Amino acid sequence: MKFLKFRRTPLISQRNATLLSVLIFCGAVALSAFRTTDHLVTIHFKTENKDSIESVKAFMDVYTVLMSPRCMNCHPAGDVPLQGDDSHLHAMGPKRGADGKGVYAMKCMNCHQPTNTPGLHTPPGNPNWHLPPADMKMVFQGKTPHELAKQLVDKSKNGNKDTKQLLEHAHDSLVLAGWDPGEGRTLPPMSHKDFVKAWNTWIKKGAYAPAPTTN
Ligand code: HEC
Ligand code: HEC
Repeated sequence: MKFLKFRRTPLISQRNATLLSVLIFCGAVALSAFRTTDHLVTIHFKTENKDSIESVKAFMDVYTVLMSPRCMNCHPAGDVPLQGDDSHLHAMGPKRGADGKGVYAMKCMNCHQPTNTPGLHTPPGNPNWHLPPADMKMVFQGKTPHELAKQLVDKSKNGNKDTKQLLEHAHDSLVLAGWDPGEGRTLPPMSHKDFVKAWNTWIKKGAYAPAPTTN
């Protein structure tokens, strides 16, 4: 009896071992199935957020234009406009004033004519040359892409503009002035046509803001 029992034990073990390899095989199959699921989940995630990815990508192009001196010089963090490709404070420090058109003897239109004044270091011109008003400063200087995208679509900060008015703003005469800046000034980093395309894509795909960490 003892002998028989002794012989049976390894027999059972062998069965266990077979069972174990079957289990391992099943496990491997199950794992590879999980891997397929993971893959599918990733693709699904991308499909779901296709618009937000395209929107954010377009905004990063828009951002390079907004932060260029031709635009940022009129969208300063303080109340004095900026000048030059290095965006230094405007000489003689004209102030924003409540309506953005300057104060006292330093009204913008005293020096900035309806058209560009010929020559280097002369005032660029536009019939409507002024800063955003004091109650809607529309600051670009120092803003991250996340902050700026949020601000642009916030009706309490953009002069109550809806989507249609936002789209139209890309053709505003002060925006166009950036591509006709007067002698000696660099142009924004892309053509106006490409800017309009990126601006429209950003807004029409949902006006998503880049993640807060993107700088
Ligand atoms: C002469 C100053 C001046 C220049 C230069 C200027 N802007 Fe502005 N910008 C303004 C003023 C004023 C406002 C606010 C009034 C308005 O909405 O028209 C404004 C508002 C804006 C807004 C806010 C629109 C919204 O609805 O949120 C955007 C976007 C904008 N500008 C883009 C640009 C771009 C792009 C450039 C450069 C290509 C530029 N600006 C150059 C004066 C300027
Ligand atoms: C006393 C005359 C004078 C007044 C007043 C004045 N400017 Fe200027 N501004 C100039 C001159 C001159 C330049 C060109 C400086 C240069 O290129 O070196 C200039 C340049 C600028 C620029 C730089 C444009 C660019 O693309 O780099 C901005 C922005 C600007 N002015 C905004 C304003 C605003 C807004 C006001 C009113 C709040 C104003 N200025 C009032 C004379 C004036």
